[in-house]
Amino acid sequence: MDEKDAAKFDSYCSPEAAVEYMKRNARQEDADDVLRAIDEHCWKEQPRMSNVGDEKGKILDKIFSDCNPVVVIELGSFIGYSAVRMARLLQRDGRLYSIETNPAYTKLAQEVVNYAGVGDKVTFINDSASNIVPRLKDTYGIESIDFLFVDHWKTYYKPDVMSLLETGLFRKGTVVLADNTIYPAESNCSPEAAVEYMKRNARQGDAEDVLRAIDEHCWKEQPGMMNVGDEKGKILDKIFSDCNPAVALELGSFIGYSAVRMARLLPRDGRLYSIETNPAHAKLAQEVVNFAGVGDKVTFINDSASNIVPRLRDTYGIGSIDFVFVDHWKTYYKPDVISLLETGLFRKGTVVLADNAIYPGCPDYLEFIRSHPNFTSKAFDSHLEYSDKKDSMEKSVYLGE
Ligand SMILES: C[S@@+](CC[C@H](N)C(=O)[O-])C[C@H]1O[C@@H](n2cnc3c(N)ncnc32)[C@H](O)[C@@H]1O
Repeated sequence: MDEKDAAKFDSYCSPEAAVEYMKRNARQEDADDVLRAIDEHCWKEQPRMSNVGDEKGKILDKIFSDCNPVVVIELGSFIGYSAVRMARLLQRDGRLYSIETNPAYTKLAQEVVNYAGVGDKVTFINDSASNIVPRLKDTYGIESIDFLFVDHWKTYYKPDVMSLLETGLFRKGTVVLADNTIYPAESNCSPEAAVEYMKRNARQGDAEDVLRAIDEHCWKEQPGMMNVGDEKGKILDKIFSDCNPAVALELGSFIGYSAVRMARLLPRDGRLYSIETNPAHAKLAQEVVNFAGVGDKVTFINDSASNIVPRLRDTYGIGSIDFVFVDHWKTYYKPDVISLLETGLFRKGTVVLADNAIYPGCPDYLEFIRSHPNFTSKAFDSHLEYSDKKDSMEKSVYLGE
């Protein structure tokens, strides 16, 4: 992968795509082949995936095998890569308890360990470590912990290990292995931390102040967050206001930052439908728009855009769309906009605004929309959110049939 391609994928990753690749390319019930396929995909396509990976994975294997644990705890399952690594080395009566706060990741992790043939050795717990750790003894019947792999958000390492110590479950010889002690990948961002910061620092019911607080947090603490951000946000504001839409659609809500931007500019009877595939993101987005005082203007739909778009008319009673903000995974821009066109909901003048046209980039979409006879398109140059890297937004206006 050359520098340009690496940049393209930097900080945006699709865990689902990695699991799909694994299923197509790994032998079922062969844990080593599952690890190989995931590594292959990540090296080639998604270098920012936050699995422990093959190189540090070998260190994990060695320390884990030397410990020869019976009871293992993992903080942060992600897609279950390290769970497969550890479970395949567990002794006959061993068990791994893997705690993950994001339900979408827990689901993928369960699929991955099942596919790898080690599902019977792993218990996934879908909750935050801070909630679960104090209940490990009473709820999960754990008497003692032999090995702990710490690999969730970096700011939680210290409090959660302190809380584990307080459970009294460590024995002499318990091994604690923490990943990313030098480099937390940019993509390891915590949307939850951004929302907590916003709640502590923004005035409730003040949409402008909510945007300000989120931007402040992201510039200072989490530049890897994928909100449209303040700079491109102003372009979004202008194009949105010029369009003055009654019905707006967003593909990719994340934590609801752009939903707040748009909802605050909607006319009195306007409505924004925002589609988000990740339930944890959809939940945060609802909290953020409610906190900002614009919750009554937004309907979040927790599903993939490809499932929802064909049902916009019948299930959601939408008769026509005035504005679309396209900001989900970049490979879905083209198929989902094609599917939107097929609904017949675009009217003459419908505006489609696509984010990240340069970074990470959506070349197939740009080629499609710029050469489409029923659209006229224009690029708005800017910078990637919370960064000085070049990016642009592509505005395309539907000209009718
Ligand atoms: C770049 S973020 C969206 C940022 C948001 N628009 C903002 O500016 O505040 C992309 C979001 O799209 C979601 N996503 C990815 N694929 C999707 C799909 N097929 N359908 C709906 N949402 C998707 C991801 O879970 C992620 O939350």
